[in-house]
Amino acid sequence: MVGVGILGYGTVGSGVYEVLNVNKDIIKRKTGEEIEVKKVLDLRSFPGEDIESILTHNFEDILNDESINIVAEVMGGVEPAFTYSRLAIEKGKSVVTSNKALVAEKGTELLKLAEKYNVNYFFEASCGGTIPIIRSLNTSLTSDDVQKIEGILNGTTNFILTKMAEEGRDFGEVLKEAQKLGYAEADPTADVEGHDACRKIAILSSVAFGATVDYKDIHTEGITKITREDIQYANKLNCVIKLIAESEKTPSGIAARVAPCLIKRDHPLAAVNNAYNAIFVKGNMSGETMYYGSGAGKLPTAAAVVSDIIDIVKRKGVYEPIDWDVNKNLPVLSPEKSAVKAFIRIGFENKTEAEKAVCDMFGDVKFTVIDGLNNEFAFITNQETEKSVYDKINKLKTASAVKEVFNVIHVEE
Ligand code: HSE
Repeated sequence: MVGVGILGYGTVGSGVYEVLNVNKDIIKRKTGEEIEVKKVLDLRSFPGEDIESILTHNFEDILNDESINIVAEVMGGVEPAFTYSRLAIEKGKSVVTSNKALVAEKGTELLKLAEKYNVNYFFEASCGGTIPIIRSLNTSLTSDDVQKIEGILNGTTNFILTKMAEEGRDFGEVLKEAQKLGYAEADPTADVEGHDACRKIAILSSVAFGATVDYKDIHTEGITKITREDIQYANKLNCVIKLIAESEKTPSGIAARVAPCLIKRDHPLAAVNNAYNAIFVKGNMSGETMYYGSGAGKLPTAAAVVSDIIDIVKRKGVYEPIDWDVNKNLPVLSPEKSAVKAFIRIGFENKTEAEKAVCDMFGDVKFTVIDGLNNEFAFITNQETEKSVYDKINKLKTASAVKEVFNVIHVEE
């Protein structure tokens, strides 16, 4: 018998309880063990619910319960999740988590402790929801030198962008629906401003490149600046807008960023809609592999948490190293030097003069206009450094024919 303690009975916590119960027999067949949830920690009460008799408001009850071998930390946020995870590991309990904020901030400390106490700290559910991406990087693509990871890593923003594009709905209204469906973070700013995707690409980069990539070093933009008008232009250009997280190994460091991007409709990531996530991994031997699945939501995320529990039970709790040198940080390059193409939308006073000002600065570019959007056009730059693009935009803003630069969005080739 393996005892599990669940920290947090929110969307993911209640999902973990459900997965362990609904698939009890299958899990027993796979592990040869009965896995039982012994206690659930939450500040709230759940009268009449199944877990009422095992609910506690006191973490010590889980910490000091010797029948609990594995703790599922699914409470989110850095504290008290970090302290609880640390104490559990120091008590000889393995910890599994979906908490990307904690793994990105304190994962190195918890991994060191896990090694010291010969237990596991597993975090499959922290990136890409149900997609087995950490496991793929850690146990399948092991003969590769991973060069690049790129993908859609946030379900909430992908859901919002999909509904805005397909149904012409408003940002705020779709965000509320994403919250109701259990996709969004407690504070959805983390989703819509790109911070959640930033933490996930930092974690994936650390596992893929074998040393810590600090999420604080990654240039991050969210989707709050994306308007219906931008989506109309994207449509006309045969593109869609997606929040793309990417990270690439270069000789001078890691080139990483999170930003909304225009991608062509025939790009494989363009077909990833709603709360689905997809991740490309480019290895020097395997070439490109792509991973796809539900990136958010109760049961898909809980299934990934339980897969870590099963892994630990199968390993009889013995420490399993992860290829992430927690004592080494990889340098992240300043985004200014990276080569980009940008979609730029401009409001003008005088069309001919504004077009001339653009061509004087950006060379020969093609202009796009949308019926009904008056006194504005958009164009896509040729490839140049990000710094050069923004220097030119700043000059463009001073041109008398140019009234306003409405938006600048990266274009993914
Ligand atoms: N808020 C996250 C998302 C949940 O929307 O992707 C899954 O990590």
